[in-house]
Amino acid sequence: MARRYRSGFGWLIIVMVAVFEAVSVAGRRPFPRHLAIDGVGAPKSGICAKAVVKHGYKCQEFDVKTDDGYMLSLQRIPEGKVGNNSAKKPPVVLQHGVLVDGVTWLMNSPQQALGFILADNGFDVWISNVRGTRYSRRHATLDPNFNPKFWDWSWDELVDHDLPAVLGFVQKQTGQKVHYVGHSLGTLMALATLAEGKQLDKLKSAALLSPIAYLSHMTTALGIVASRSFMGELGQLFGLAEFNPMGPGASALVRFYCSQPLVNCYDFMAAMTGVNCCLNRTTAKDLLEHEPQSTSTKNLVHLAQTVRDGVLRRYNYGNTKDNMAHYKSPNPPVFNLAKIPPSFPLFLSYGGQDALSDIADVKRLLSEIKSHDPAKLQVQLIKDYGHADFILATNAKDLVYNQVISFFRKFN
Ligand SMILES: *[C@@H]1O[C@H](CO)[C@@H](O)[C@H](O)[C@H]1NC(C)=O
Ligand SMILES: *[C@@H]1O[C@H](CO)[C@@H](O)[C@H](O)[C@H]1NC(C)=O
Repeated sequence: MARRYRSGFGWLIIVMVAVFEAVSVAGRRPFPRHLAIDGVGAPKSGICAKAVVKHGYKCQEFDVKTDDGYMLSLQRIPEGKVGNNSAKKPPVVLQHGVLVDGVTWLMNSPQQALGFILADNGFDVWISNVRGTRYSRRHATLDPNFNPKFWDWSWDELVDHDLPAVLGFVQKQTGQKVHYVGHSLGTLMALATLAEGKQLDKLKSAALLSPIAYLSHMTTALGIVASRSFMGELGQLFGLAEFNPMGPGASALVRFYCSQPLVNCYDFMAAMTGVNCCLNRTTAKDLLEHEPQSTSTKNLVHLAQTVRDGVLRRYNYGNTKDNMAHYKSPNPPVFNLAKIPPSFPLFLSYGGQDALSDIADVKRLLSEIKSHDPAKLQVQLIKDYGHADFILATNAKDLVYNQVISFFRKFN
């Protein structure tokens, strides 16, 4: 525990620098050129080319526009390599967590990574990438590099705009309701959506890996940051900025920190996620080097509010006047998880070593959905798993994914 904390303080400094830097370098990052071709083959750049086609799988790139103007990159792996051509494949949407993008579902080998495993098991796989991530830095009118309004959102907007856009698109393309897999923030997006009784016309079931709703017991850097009201104050100053964990100042600090005796970079992962039991070290290194993705500072502030306040509710503008303007109420509306329809099929898998999705917080989540129909709820605890194990562990197929697949088949 003490070791985790030390790592955490390293991150505190990095977060601080990165936030300031987000403000100073906004505008200097080159705009990534990414041209998606609707449904036809794979473009030269993008997640299909980077992570899927090289393994011999078919892959299609799509652009999905949200109703507030963001252009999201969406990938489809329409079939497995074994060529399972059953007529109506059940569609599955994979929703990544915070500070990463959809590539995380594809980083391990095709025998180990969920994106490929689902395709090889007869599912039609759709990989979502939320606003602000590398291939979804696009908007009808706002330039992410020059217009800070591009970054004026928290996970409320992912719930209100990104998720409905992606689910609606996939449902339209496939003519079916979809199964959903979320990791981390991707689980929060689903829980908040279901608590408001939304998207039930598009969703068949949801598998939530490392579910987060309450964050009061988290032991990661973000938890420490939040407990000191640090993000809250910075948020007031830089509410509209990009948070880029890969900015030059942040990476210099990471390199410095990694070079200290007794510290190795694996600790960074541990600081953010808890001690992961079963990562491939090569993959973990790739993740740290290539994957950390931008999000908005406001999104992190919203998460920090969740940590600090112990309540799951919409973004708090911090004063009655602004909250009134947004919500017609002095306090942000609460997401009441007890309102998740009890007959909606839910699969939850959580880890005993997960520093973000702590056991105590998951227990609270479970107690709030205690009236759920037991026939529609499956819960598993993987004792040794940390936060990243659920997407990257080399043994996740045996421990988690096979169970998810059986669950989806049961409720298809
Ligand atoms: C092909 O897909 C169907 C429908 O999902 C599934 O029942 C079957 O087991 C799959 N076959 C193989 C070989 O994966
Ligand atoms: C770890 O990843 C490397 C590089 O992708 C791969 O060559 C190796 O086989 C993997 N090891 C395990 C145990 O999966």
